Amino acid sequence: MDKNSTVFGFIGTGNMGGALAQAARHTIEGSRILLANRSPEKALALSKALEARVSDNQEIAKEADFIVLGVKPQLMEEVLAQISPVLALRRSPFLLVTMATGLTIARIRELAGRSYPVIRIMPNTPVSIGAGMVQYACSENVADSDLQAFLEAFAWAGRFSSIPEFRMDAGSAVSACGPAFADIFLEAMADGGVACGLSREQAMELAAQMLLGTAKLALESGQHPAALKDAVCSPGGTTIQGVRRLEEAGFRGAVIDAVIASYERTLELSPTHP
Ligand SMILES: NC(=O)c1ccc[n+]([C@@H]2O[C@H](COP(=O)([O-])OP(=O)(O)OC[C@H]3O[C@@H](n4cnc5c(N)ncnc54)[C@H](OP(=O)(O)O)[C@@H]3O)[C@@H](O)[C@H]2O)c1
Repeated sequence: MDKNSTVFGFIGTGNMGGALAQAARHTIEGSRILLANRSPEKALALSKALEARVSDNQEIAKEADFIVLGVKPQLMEEVLAQISPVLALRRSPFLLVTMATGLTIARIRELAGRSYPVIRIMPNTPVSIGAGMVQYACSENVADSDLQAFLEAFAWAGRFSSIPEFRMDAGSAVSACGPAFADIFLEAMADGGVACGLSREQAMELAAQMLLGTAKLALESGQHPAALKDAVCSPGGTTIQGVRRLEEAGFRGAVIDAVIASYERTLELSPTHP
């Protein structure tokens, strides 16, 4: 596969498929991006914004080097049944890219009818602004050069992390469900600021930038969050009193339980769940 002419086809241009197509557009020209969606107006609107090509599932199955499956997990069977006869006739190599929560590489191959190379990813909503966390796992027949081409094409989306596939459901509970948990924290911080007299707008700005900066500091310094927390808590000071309240309210345990609950639900929804 020549990475300078590689074609990326997106089947399903909803929230996540659309965000990934936008991310890819930062690296590759629009003429190499094909967009297909059940309600065609969504693909059409995105194609205008990205100067990409509107397509359909069959054409993408026939032409794209990377076929990015952006449909909901429960629709994957229908979509793969529809395109598998076209895939079976292909002579040129291609890869399937799946982002469907709970569907394994083995299941995708089973639905597609053959052991095609598959890259399974687990993105999160901040990919839409280039600050995402994308976990990925590959089937054994994904060539290193193809994986590199994939990572380069989507690099704008954010940070990529290789993970053993069996850990992806756990990773998903942290990084894909996590934005909802962080949003609740963010909203609550702003509520606290409003309760103390700040305007809503300013409280949101302070809370959001605080959260962003704290996460950045943890990643860039490599320091343990406990050490970063200790650095803010002066003896006899203000912050430690807030920490005391959070601990009294079981904040830490609630967050851990939220991750476990999301993980367990992912397992329940998986087709291989007994
Ligand atoms: N959202 C997240 O935070 C997140 C995180 C990680 C992984 N994911 C995964 O990302 C995938 C997409 O989720 P989403 O949140 O982006 O859902 P979404 O916004 O509903 O997007 C799915 C899109 O697929 C289209 N579609 C449905 N059937 C189709 C078909 N037969 N052919 C072509 N397009 C079809 C839908 O078209 P219509 O416009 O007609 O509905 C819709 O635009 C899911 O597998 C999900 O598990 C999502």
